[in-house]
Amino acid sequence: MHKDVKEILISEEQINEKCVEMGQIVTDHYKDAQEPIVLVALLKGSVPFLARLINHVDLDMEYDFMDVSSYAGTESSRDIKILKDLDRSIKGVNILLVEDIVDTGHTIKAIIQLLKNKGANDVKVISLLDKPSRREVDVYADFIGFEIPNEFVIGFGLDFNEKYRQLPYIGILKDEVYQ
Ligand code: PRP
Repeated sequence: MHKDVKEILISEEQINEKCVEMGQIVTDHYKDAQEPIVLVALLKGSVPFLARLINHVDLDMEYDFMDVSSYAGTESSRDIKILKDLDRSIKGVNILLVEDIVDTGHTIKAIIQLLKNKGANDVKVISLLDKPSRREVDVYADFIGFEIPNEFVIGFGLDFNEKYRQLPYIGILKDEVYQ
């Protein structure tokens, strides 16, 4: 275990099992879809989850990336700046937005709207982690791996100052590292 980790919240084995399970759920959900399916992953945190998940999705599909930064507007909304947009048109496409974590909910709320404005046929969200106690807007992921308590979590894509993303598990960061 990394020296800055207080406790492993979700082990590598639990993540692997969950990705198999979620891959099957995604496959079942879209297996009869007539429209193209594009998984859209938000950089950078969702990369490990996307990589593990797609091994277990048995569908004709594509994946693409977006990078956004959000900055406070009013308390109830955030403005989103697109740093990297999608490479293709998504008109009429079924989008599965891939996230590592839904926290306040501002990010997925803004991105869902943005993808719908681009003409997506349908937008669903899959997130490895959900922290419902932190939610500020009424938004939810359609498929959730683990609901977690309000702890500072790192690993499997999640960072603190860009560090710890490479850890193969989800850990709780020691208080003294960020205080
Ligand atoms: C994190 C995470 C989600 C978002 C969730 O991204 O990957 O995209 O925050 O937070 P919210 O529900 O409060 O909007 P971050 O902006 O830290 O970028 P990163 O993925 O590059 O770490």
